[in-house]
Amino acid sequence: MQIEGKRAVITGGASGIGLAIAHRLVGAGCSVVIADIDTAALQRCSTEHADFLLYECDVTKRESLEALAGFAWSTLGGVDLVFANAGVGLPLKPLLDQTEAHARWVMEVNYFGVWHTLQVFGPRLIEQGTECHLVVTGSENSVAVPAPLLGAYNASKHAVLGLTETFDRETPDFLGVSILCPGLVMTNILSSLEKIPDAFGGPESTPIGRSNLGFTPDQIAINALAGVDAEDFYIFTHHCNRDMVAERLSNQIGAIERQTQPNDGSDICNTRHLLGDVFEQMGQKHQ
Ligand SMILES: NC(=O)c1ccc[n+]([C@@H]2O[C@H](COP(=O)([O-])OP(=O)(O)OC[C@H]3O[C@@H](n4cnc5c(N)ncnc54)[C@H](O)[C@@H]3O)[C@@H](O)[C@H]2O)c1
Repeated sequence: MQIEGKRAVITGGASGIGLAIAHRLVGAGCSVVIADIDTAALQRCSTEHADFLLYECDVTKRESLEALAGFAWSTLGGVDLVFANAGVGLPLKPLLDQTEAHARWVMEVNYFGVWHTLQVFGPRLIEQGTECHLVVTGSENSVAVPAPLLGAYNASKHAVLGLTETFDRETPDFLGVSILCPGLVMTNILSSLEKIPDAFGGPESTPIGRSNLGFTPDQIAINALAGVDAEDFYIFTHHCNRDMVAERLSNQIGAIERQTQPNDGSDICNTRHLLGDVFEQMGQKHQ
C-alpha cells in the first residue's frame, strides 16, 4: 500500500527501529503516534520532532493498548498503519544459565505485547474496513537460530512469527500483514535489562550499552516501508540471512524425505486442508 499521508501508530517508537520508522513516515507526510513505555525517551522525541504525537503505553497491558487505540482513533480519525514493534533483549547467556524471570519477561513484552496489539488493533482495523497494514517486528531470530546464547529471545521471536502468520491468514485482504525480520541493528536493545520491572527480577546494569555493530535503524526503516509498499509478508533486511534460512529449510525437507513415505496416507489428516475447511465452514467471519 502507498505510505504517503497515512495515519500510523508505532509501539516502542521512542527509540531505535521504531523511531527511525517514525522519522521516515513523517518524511512521507504521515501522521504518527509514537507509543512507548519510556517517558524520558518520549520526552526526547517531543523536543527533537514537533510533528510526532506521543503516547505513554505499556504493551504488556491490554488496557494500555486499548487506551492507545482510543487516542489514535480520536486524534487521527482512523489508523492505516500499525507497527507492533516494542521489544526487549536479554544479555547473551547459555539457555541453562538464563533465569525463568527473564524468560517470562521477554515473552511478556515480545510475545504478549504483540498479542495484545493484534487483539486490540485487529478488530478496529477490520471494522474500519479501509486498506490498512500491520507490521510486526520479529527478527532474524524468528526464522532460524542464528547463534547460541539467545534462547529465550529466540523463542519469543519464533512465537511472534506463528502469531503473525495466523493473523494474516484469518484477516481480510484489505488488512495487509508483514513480519519485519532484521538482523543486527545499532539500537538500545542491549540496555533493555536496565528497565526490567521488579516483578521480573528488577533492573540490572548492562555494560555494553548501545550496540555499535549492525545496520543503522534507518536502513531497517527503509526496508520496512518498502516491504509495506510491496505488500510482502516477510520483510528481510540482511542478505546474510539467506544461508541460515536455506539451511533450516533444507534440513527440514531432508528429514521429511528420509523419515516418511510419500504414500503414507497422511493426506486424509492433512492439518492444512482440514483446518482450512473448518475455517471456511466458520464463515471466515472477518472476510
Ligand atoms: N536491534 C537489533 O539488533 C534487533 C534485531 C532484530 C529485531 N529487533 C527488534 O526490533 C524491535 C525494536 O527494538 P530496537 O532494536 O529498536 O530496540 P530499542 O531498545 O532501541 O527500542 C525498543 C523500544 O521499545 C520500548 N519498549 C520496551 N518495552 C516496552 C513496553 N512494555 N511497552 C512499550 N514499549 C516498550 C523501549 O522503551 C524502546 O523505546 C524489537 O522488537 C526488537 O526485538 C532488534
